[in-house]
Amino acid sequence: MHPAGLAVTSCGLLAARCRHFPVCWQKTTLKNLGGFWSVENLGMEPPRMSPVVEPLSWMLGTWLSEPPGAGTFPTLQPFRYLEEAHISHVGQPMLNFSFNAFHPDTHKPMHRECGFIRLEPDTNKVAFVSAQNTGIVEVEEGEVNGQELCIASHSIARISFAKEPHVEQITRKFRLNSEGKLEQTVSMATTTQPLTQHLHVTYKKVTP
Ligand code: HEM
Repeated sequence: MHPAGLAVTSCGLLAARCRHFPVCWQKTTLKNLGGFWSVENLGMEPPRMSPVVEPLSWMLGTWLSEPPGAGTFPTLQPFRYLEEAHISHVGQPMLNFSFNAFHPDTHKPMHRECGFIRLEPDTNKVAFVSAQNTGIVEVEEGEVNGQELCIASHSIARISFAKEPHVEQITRKFRLNSEGKLEQTVSMATTTQPLTQHLHVTYKKVTP
């Protein structure tokens, strides 16, 4: 339970109403991640990880941006953001993820996405499926090699009233660096710009 009496969900939505969010959320998450208090595990033993997703096990955990993420694009003023990445499994042969970004000063929610990361059994082929609050749904595919995952968009769809310019291509690289921190780099091409870096963020693990 969050100190303000709010139920803690894996998406952080209720805890986000706390004025100390996301710092408070980080402490709360740490206190409650005994494996029993998350929605997935309520009253149950923590699930055993499927061997299919073992090559991606270095991604598992709750991670907080440190330092804040850096946003760039030729059409945008450079910006900073906080982000919580929650990557988990429930014993199925896939990972579940949510990435929730916040304004670094006001802590107002910004970009959010969630989805699944699948591995083709007995290969290093990965599929990443994501739904974003901007109205985009996308599939990226690529390969995991050691502690590095490189993926590129395979299909992108959007709601009919999505803001322009539309994204036409997305590439991502995740890697675990030598300090044990997770890094994500996102590049995109839009209807007005060629493939260019949009985001780079380093996350510190906040779960054991
Ligand atoms: C794969 C994930 C993402 C995609 C595909 C995406 C796509 C886009 C696109 C197409 C634009 C418009 C660019 C232009 O006007 O030329 C944009 C703008 C922007 N993005 Fe992202 N974005 C992603 C993730 C994020 C994240 C994690 C943040 C963190 C806060 C973020 C923050 C922004 C901001 C602040 C702008 C400019 C203002 C706005 O249009 O809302 N984006 N993004």
